[in-house]
Amino acid sequence: MWELSVAAALGCALVLLVLSLVVRQLLKQRRPAGFPPGPAGLPLIGNIHALAAEQPHVYMRKQSQLHGQIFSLDLGGISAIVLNGYDAIKECLVHQSEVFADRPSLPLFKKMTKMGGLLNSKYGRGWTEHRKLAVNSFRIFGYGQKSFEHKISEECMIFLDAIDTYKGKPFDLKHLITNAVSNITNLILFGERFTYEDIEFQHMIEIFSENIELAASAAVFLYNAFPLIGILPFGKHQQLFKNAAEVYDFLNDLIERVSENRKSQSPRHFVDAYLDEMDRSKNDPESTYSTENLIFSVGELIIAGTETTTNVLRWAVLFMALYPNIQGQVHKEIDLIVGPNKTPSLKEKCKMPYTEAVLHEILRFCNIVPLGIFHATSKDTVVRGYSIPQDTTVITNLYSVHFDEKYWTNPEVFYPERFLDSSGQFIKKDAFVPFSLGRRHCLGEQLARMEMYLFFTSLLQRFHLHFPHNLIPDLKPRLGMTLQPQPYLICAERR
Ligand code: HEM
Repeated sequence: MWELSVAAALGCALVLLVLSLVVRQLLKQRRPAGFPPGPAGLPLIGNIHALAAEQPHVYMRKQSQLHGQIFSLDLGGISAIVLNGYDAIKECLVHQSEVFADRPSLPLFKKMTKMGGLLNSKYGRGWTEHRKLAVNSFRIFGYGQKSFEHKISEECMIFLDAIDTYKGKPFDLKHLITNAVSNITNLILFGERFTYEDIEFQHMIEIFSENIELAASAAVFLYNAFPLIGILPFGKHQQLFKNAAEVYDFLNDLIERVSENRKSQSPRHFVDAYLDEMDRSKNDPESTYSTENLIFSVGELIIAGTETTTNVLRWAVLFMALYPNIQGQVHKEIDLIVGPNKTPSLKEKCKMPYTEAVLHEILRFCNIVPLGIFHATSKDTVVRGYSIPQDTTVITNLYSVHFDEKYWTNPEVFYPERFLDSSGQFIKKDAFVPFSLGRRHCLGEQLARMEMYLFFTSLLQRFHLHFPHNLIPDLKPRLGMTLQPQPYLICAERR
């Protein structure tokens, strides 16, 4: 009898607990007063199911046609606004740059980087210190050096020679491009490159890149909404944590190795420069430099630089094989300006408007980072009459800017000529934002532009690209934080 009443009491307590959790969740899901409108969501999970149903950036663009350029989403109790089209994104990221410069404190980011490092760091002293150090290091150990362009060209040659070993037979160039591109960042971060046979480095990049894909999955949105899911011993979140721990250990060892013979205040690369800053601020209790933040920053710089630039080049190769006439025109321009034997160089870039237009159209059309990186508001604000509270998650739909009909004619058509004027000269476009805008805009834009140009022109100077048996691969992108092509085979024949 006594056992029965204890069981009944426990049962009641459990029901009450579940009920109070449900009520708490439903209250969290209420739209704040004055918040932008948005699609109706389901109880508990809000709009998360809709994000899983189709490509999130496409879904969001469609919703903006119903609810306006700024609308809201409920990510299972996390209030978010989505900015669509050039005008709305500029209004927030540029005109209210400080307010929109924060990152959301989502459980995933909190667990992975404790909101430290650089890319995921909250807007404040930590971000300012890490961004400044990275920008300076990119200049000092990268494009500020006269020899840096030559180092990229050397990597291009190693890359082309590796392609040559396939002798025109079909192969997937994903791994070669990933290695070659990441080596440019590696030179800045560690002062050394990794060979294309380095299995350990390749494995680290592979699982890191798997995490970029997982981070945008509905399962991970669910984890952000209900972090208790974290106690389940299976699921995508566990894979993500396992990969992150492995990457962390790899980078820790690597950082120790490359800093072994360091001479204080004579930095050879980013890691040395960071350790110097740590030494300099060791008596400052507020300093944000730490071994942990060094590992997070190095990881973020490697993946932010590799995943993006690699995907641009993979799409570029795919589109050249898809449109042989466009490839032919790039070949013609290279032959005319660079010639068949000379190494392509940046000083010729301004004489190659068509090649530039093709690369820009790839970036516009393929939307490598379709939703940017999530922002958050650093204080309460008002935009277009809507009240947006502090700590609201802000999604920048960069894809919607590149398909904004106010700024682009027939945006769904791949047409490099839209970046040329009537005399064939290259023209810049306002609504071209692959690197985003405002305080958090991409830190690696200059480096990425150098790499894309040099790799692309070197590749097309030596090779003609076509699909094996002229079979066109699936053009639908693989979804994740970044958009990449489905795996495809290519034949690169010497011209
Ligand atoms: C074509 C290549 C690239 C594209 C399309 C690209 C795009 C972007 C975008 C859309 C953002 C988000 C900005 C925002 O939050 O509003 C970003 C941030 C960032 N990118 Fe890139 N990126 C590229 C290459 C690189 C490279 C080569 C590096 C460095 C090696 C890099 C490092 C970063 C970092 C550190 C951030 C975070 C900045 C911050 O939070 O302050 N990116 N990038």
